[in-house]
Amino acid sequence: MSSIIGFVSRVRTTFNPPEAKPLPNSKPLKFGVLGAAAIAPDALINPVKSHPEAVVFAVAARDKERAGAFAKKHGIAKVFGSYQELIDDPEIDAIYNPLPNGLHYEWTMKALAAGKHVLLEKPAANTAEETRKMFELAETKGLVLLEAFHYRFHPAVHRVKAIIESGELGAVQRTTTSLTLPGGYMKANDIRFNYSLGGGALMDMGCYTINSMRYFAGVDPTEVLSVKHDLSNPQVDRKTVAKFALPGSITSTIVCDLGVPWKFKLIPSMPDLNATIKCEKGDIKFMNYVMPTAYHSITVTTGSKSRVEKAYTFPDLGEPWWTTYRYQLEAFVNRVKGRPTHAWVTKEDSIKNMEAIESVYAKSGLGSRPKSEYVPSSSV
Ligand SMILES: *[C@@H]1O[C@H](CO)[C@@H](O)[C@H](O)[C@H]1NC(C)=O
Ligand SMILES: *[C@@H]1O[C@H](CO)[C@@H](O)[C@H](O)[C@H]1NC(C)=O
Repeated sequence: MSSIIGFVSRVRTTFNPPEAKPLPNSKPLKFGVLGAAAIAPDALINPVKSHPEAVVFAVAARDKERAGAFAKKHGIAKVFGSYQELIDDPEIDAIYNPLPNGLHYEWTMKALAAGKHVLLEKPAANTAEETRKMFELAETKGLVLLEAFHYRFHPAVHRVKAIIESGELGAVQRTTTSLTLPGGYMKANDIRFNYSLGGGALMDMGCYTINSMRYFAGVDPTEVLSVKHDLSNPQVDRKTVAKFALPGSITSTIVCDLGVPWKFKLIPSMPDLNATIKCEKGDIKFMNYVMPTAYHSITVTTGSKSRVEKAYTFPDLGEPWWTTYRYQLEAFVNRVKGRPTHAWVTKEDSIKNMEAIESVYAKSGLGSRPKSEYVPSSSV
């Protein structure tokens, strides 16, 4: 019962966060949002409300009326009908880029060229090479660029990593990381199924399964052992199951599916958001590693003994209702302000993640998603 009350209270506060008062001696970080994206309220607009040093200041959409309606709904001060105009606004410090994957490279490069920090939705780009170029430009310009693997900032995820690193269970032997949704959430014409825009289950949900595999195993895959896709369109996977070999005789499986077909066409399947880490002396079952704020459980089993842990806050950071995105925002703002962060996703991490995604598409023959046609001007 108490866990139900906890759930209701966390979820209610998550969607109606107490608004933070601006800090008197701090200039708030002003964000501009590219596109009136459906993910922006969860990923940035709500988290910003409870952050005393950040505001969502502007939004741009190619359809200015759409941007205007979005701004009105979310109390955003400034509206642009072009991404470039927003990027060029001198008042804006940081760009949030939730555009389709295939546009990540172009608009992140343009934002960095204009001197803006960038919070970039995952996967970072269509290719590892583009990912490297974006981070190199950010380094050259002394700007913060973060691939928004928000789950990596949550205490429950850190707790699982700490259990692994404590040595309690011995070396990691096998991991399985999954992310699946029942069919019906995404229509057939969803951009996630569009090859030229960087579509595919492995790009969308799969980027989490690959990232969490690499994070919990603590090493990068050396070989793709097998791949199985279910396709939605030619070259676009609705479902991918891949097996990897990693150093230390670890084998890992990832499962991602943008729409698990209903049983008998009648019964939707439960979403699968589980990570299982099997070690020499026991295993960890982590239920809901992607959105742990709503609910999660960490079940640690050794022999016949089993315990369940949960972690909604760090000892010195957070509130039970803070989402993964709120924890991520905390780190992003701290980084921009030159302060230490409780977690980070590095350049190398983002590049390696994209390399692993491309290695799966290479193995299956589906091929990497197309490179952007955008060529940065040499003056940046
Ligand atoms: C994919 O998106 C591009 C760019 O918006 C569009 O031109 C193309 O028709 C789309 N392809 C499909 C199969 O929907
Ligand atoms: C995910 O983990 C939970 C808790 O251990 C379990 O009840 C559920 O069946 C798992 N889901 C799948 C699809 O394996």
